[in-house]
Formats: sequence, C-alpha cells, structure tokens
Amino acid sequence: MIGRPLFQATLKGENHSGRPPLWVMRQAGRYLPEYRALKEKYSFVEMVKTPELATEVTLQPLKRFDLDAAIVFSDILVIPEAMGQGYDFRPAGGIEMTSKLDDDASIERLTSSDIEEKLSYVSETLKNLRQELGETQALLGFCGSPWTLACYMIEGGSADGFPKALAWAEKHPKSFDRLLEKITQALIDYLTMQARCGVDALQIFDSWHNLCPPERIWDLSLKWIARLIEQVPQNLPLIIYANAPVAGLKEIVLTKPQALGIHHRANIAQARNLFPAPLVLQGNLNPEVMETDPKTVISETVKILDSMKNDPAHIMNLGHGIRPGAKIECMQALVSTVKAYSG
Ligand code: CP3
Repeated sequence: MIGRPLFQATLKGENHSGRPPLWVMRQAGRYLPEYRALKEKYSFVEMVKTPELATEVTLQPLKRFDLDAAIVFSDILVIPEAMGQGYDFRPAGGIEMTSKLDDDASIERLTSSDIEEKLSYVSETLKNLRQELGETQALLGFCGSPWTLACYMIEGGSADGFPKALAWAEKHPKSFDRLLEKITQALIDYLTMQARCGVDALQIFDSWHNLCPPERIWDLSLKWIARLIEQVPQNLPLIIYANAPVAGLKEIVLTKPQALGIHHRANIAQARNLFPAPLVLQGNLNPEVMETDPKTVISETVKILDSMKNDPAHIMNLGHGIRPGAKIECMQALVSTVKAYSG
C-alpha cells in the first residue's frame, strides 16, 4: 500500500504495511529552487491567492519526491486577512500585519462572515489539487488555532514571546474571549469548506501553545480547539499540532482529536506509551537534521522508525516546519529511508 490508501489506513489506525506514510512538511517550499524561482515573479500573498500558482507550488515537492500526501500551499494568516487584518512578510523575516488589535472597537470591527466567499481561492486550489492527486496521494488542509492567530493579530505580526496577547487575556478577559469566539466562528466555516473540497485530513496548528501558561491553556487555547473539533464534519480526521512536551499532550487529548502532531523536542515513542493506537501520532524528525547530510538523516530517521516499529497509526513527518536551509539530498535520504523501511 502506498500514497492515499496508506495515509487513510493510518488515520484509521489500520496500517499493517510495516512503514508509515510520509508527507510534505509545512513551509516546505522555501528550500526548493523551483519555489524560489516563482517567488522572483510573484509575492507570497499573490501565489496563495492565485489557485493555479498555489496548486503548482503545492505539487512542486511531490514532483521531486515520492511522498504519500500533500499539504495545500496557503498560510494560517488567510483567516485574519479574511476577517479584516491583512498580512505580509518583513524583509528581514517574520510577519507584518496591516494593523494590530488594540481596543474593543478593533475587535468589533473584525468580521467572521462570508469566509467561504473571501477564501474561495483556497477552495479552488483544494479542488484543483484533489483532482490532480486523485487516489494517488492524500491531501491535507489546515488552519491556525484561535490562540495562535490571536497572538499574531494582537501584536500585528511576529513578536518575541507575544507578550501583548497574554497581557490582554489577563487584563481584559471578556474582550479576549470575544476575539477567540470570532476567530473560532470564522475557522468553523473555513474548516467545513475545506472538508467539502475533499481533503483527507485537516491539521490545526497551535504553534504558540508553548507561550500560554499551563494553568491557562484550556481556557485560552484548548477549549476553542475542542469547539472546532466538535463542529467540523465528524468523519474528517483532525491532527492537532502543538509545540508541547509529552506531559502537555495529556490535556491536548481532551479536545478529542484523531491525531497529534508531535514536536521534535518530545519523544514520540513515549507519547505512544501514553496514548495507544488508534490515536494517530505524527512526527517527529528534528528539522535541523535536514540541514546536515544524508548519512545523519538516514540514522536519525531509522531511530524514529525503529522506535515506532509496526505502529498501525504513525505518520512520518518533521517535528516542525522544514527550514529554508534544508538540503535536497537530505529530503531524498528521508524519503528513500522511509519508503525502504519494512518494520
Ligand atoms: O508546506 C507548505 O508549504 C504548506 C503551507 C504552509 C505555509 N505556512 C506556507 C508558508 C503552512 C501549513 C503554514 C503554516 C504556518 N504559517 C504556521 C503554523 C506552522 C508552524 O510553523 O508552526 C505559522 C505560524 C505560519 C505563519 C508564518 N508563515 C510564518 C511564521 C512564516 C515565516 C515567516 C518568516 O520568518 O520568513 C510564514 C511564511 C510561509 N508560510 C512560507 C511558506 C512557504 C515561507 C514564505 C517564503 O519565505 O517564501
């Protein structure tokens, strides 16, 4: 079994093939020369908003590497944009939004309506991709978690530690709740739309999970993720990715996801001891390994595969997004090692 059937069997906890499916990691385009060539001609936002280009960029890594699934080329920031806060990138790296939230009125101005219409470029891209991939490869959609999006929206971009988000949550809990509710409403429509486009799974990125104090994590992040999981079509698997240690996963599981993305600083086999299959575990090679050499990639990959030997519900992936400095020969080594593995 390979590709989409293997991915689907794994999501059900029924992969008995001896090797896990492997898919493209988020922000996967940057290390590819063919992506950088397109970036000379178009801005990131232009590419995301043009279905033909977004389709092409999504498929670039699949043309080079024999992967089992693809994640749509888009960004978590399309939701703030659809709600009224645009985004771009700073020349030196990081996110710059067109405005920041700084009072109740700025939250009230955000809109959660007409998400499907505003993000129709994503649904067109997904439909193109579903057609292109057919039964051969699985397709993933995604979004940011309400907490993670709120961090960007309050700061108006990237910021070390996102201190304003937490300060606002503590000083003005009602308006912070109102913000999370508005984001959640928009995300429910967005995920439902993606589900209709034929994705095999949806990934929710709670990338700034680690910035929220543990005693506040349910109220500020997980409660809202649980609401998303409750509201999206029941048969669609959701993968929650949180930048969290193994101990933190216990609370994340209370949101009732079908799958957990495991950060590379957590030990995936230890996570498996805590959460038996069919809870799907995804991960978790350190992205830095992709900047070393093929020999190191092979040995680090085999370590993970051996630690999850014959696991019926393991998806192979990196423990976070791939970095621009990743080497193509390292990706090749990862792909061929996983594909040749037979338990
Ligand atoms: O693999 C893919 O390309 C899938 C598409 C995808 C992107 N971003 C494209 C992208 C996905 C799934 C994301 C998720 C995303 N975006 C997250 C959650 C995952 C995580 O890393 O925790 C977050 C926090 C974002 C917001 C974002 N977008 C950041 C922090 C950055 C890096 C900005 C910087 O410092 O340069 C981006 C840019 C981005 N998103 C790129 C891509 C391909 C790189 C754009 C470029 O340099 O051309």
